Amino acid sequence: MKTRTQVGIVGAGPAGLMLSHLLHLHGIESVVLEASSRKRIEERIRAGVLEQGTVDLLVETGVGERLKRQGLFHGGIELRFSSAGHRIDFRELTGGKGVVIYAQHEVIKDLVAARLSAGAQIIFEALDVRIQGLDELTPSIHFENEGTRHELSCDFIAGCDGFHGACRPSIPEGVITAYEQIYPFGWLGILAQAAPSSEELIYAYHERGFALHSMRSPEISRLYLQCSPNEDLSEWPDERIWAELQRRFELSKHWRLTEGPILQKSVTGMRSFVAEPMQFGKLFLAGDSAHIVPPTGAKGLNLAIADVRVLVSGLTEFYESGKMELLKRYSEICLRRVWKVQRFSWWMTSMLHRHASTNPFDERRQLAELDYVTSSRAGSQTLAENYVGLPMEVI
Ligand code: APR
Ligand code: PHB
Repeated sequence: MKTRTQVGIVGAGPAGLMLSHLLHLHGIESVVLEASSRKRIEERIRAGVLEQGTVDLLVETGVGERLKRQGLFHGGIELRFSSAGHRIDFRELTGGKGVVIYAQHEVIKDLVAARLSAGAQIIFEALDVRIQGLDELTPSIHFENEGTRHELSCDFIAGCDGFHGACRPSIPEGVITAYEQIYPFGWLGILAQAAPSSEELIYAYHERGFALHSMRSPEISRLYLQCSPNEDLSEWPDERIWAELQRRFELSKHWRLTEGPILQKSVTGMRSFVAEPMQFGKLFLAGDSAHIVPPTGAKGLNLAIADVRVLVSGLTEFYESGKMELLKRYSEICLRRVWKVQRFSWWMTSMLHRHASTNPFDERRQLAELDYVTSSRAGSQTLAENYVGLPMEVI
């Protein structure tokens, strides 16, 4: 079956759905093709920290109602090391900015609901996606859905299909340079039926490895501990996880994490990755399809949204005036932010994790860095302005 749209979007993650939503508000039509089912994307557990700019955009564009009611508004984080806690006060250091804790799959639910109620086409279980004619006037996306082959011709294609998607590999060999760093550790994450043990997030540096205390609601905690990238979960019964977390969050004064039934456990590897350029012909990559950050700075979703904003400006300029100026600069504009966010995520990761090759010199250096960041205003401010989100580039 042959159909047509202005912008064909592959992937219904935060990047693809937000792109479709913003294009719609600018009168540009799109079709979203998603390999998974609606249920699966709406339940998949991912990160949950939204930068101030991401929150403002969701609210301003009419998809922030639940976020305003259920999101947890935070004005700082704690860095915990040498058995003491140190608060970084974002509001004071950034002129009032903060972050909101609101799970990524809740953002997905809000965006899917908004798109469907506006009559949008999101094709779930779109299988075997293939991209053709990227350097032609009208590229097309071929896919299978409910047993039928389809061809969707478009003016532009947005590759929002994540790190393992089909879009980036459809770019001819030799066009993209990949920059990559794989870390020799991962995170074991749990979701627990336990009230958060602190009002704000706690990033803990400990000789046994990094640990993070986060949350999803006043009843649900989200906790992570540094582990090996291919850690065997069967070796981690619930009691061992809690005992390890208790040790890594220890304070000199009496303090204990609130424990409770563990609802979900998973291990994630960590990498930094950037594909340059983020565009080829009529294909524009956005979000995880173009770059991956380690989760320590909580930037993955926010960076995906930042790309989409740039893409929407470029596409709007094109449909309003026929000009391609911004679209031509898409990659260059996005990459300036991408690399700054890569730098921040790498810095947080290397300051807070230890591994086999961390020698006594590294350990003293990491502790000095944490001491500097928590005792110098300049040091704290660097962390704070990056964590709440750097301002969007003027475009
Ligand atoms: N065809 C169609 N859809 C695909 C394909 C494919 N070949 N491959 C992947 N997808 C879908 C996935 O099922 C997923 O729903 O693309 C979507 C990509 O979404 P994300 O991985 O969430 O990526 P993105 O929208 O860029 O958001 C980045 O999400 O993964 C987190 O940590 C990441 O927070 C970051 C954010
Ligand atoms: C989360 O709540 O899942 C979370 C919070 C902060 C991070 C990473 C993940 O840096």
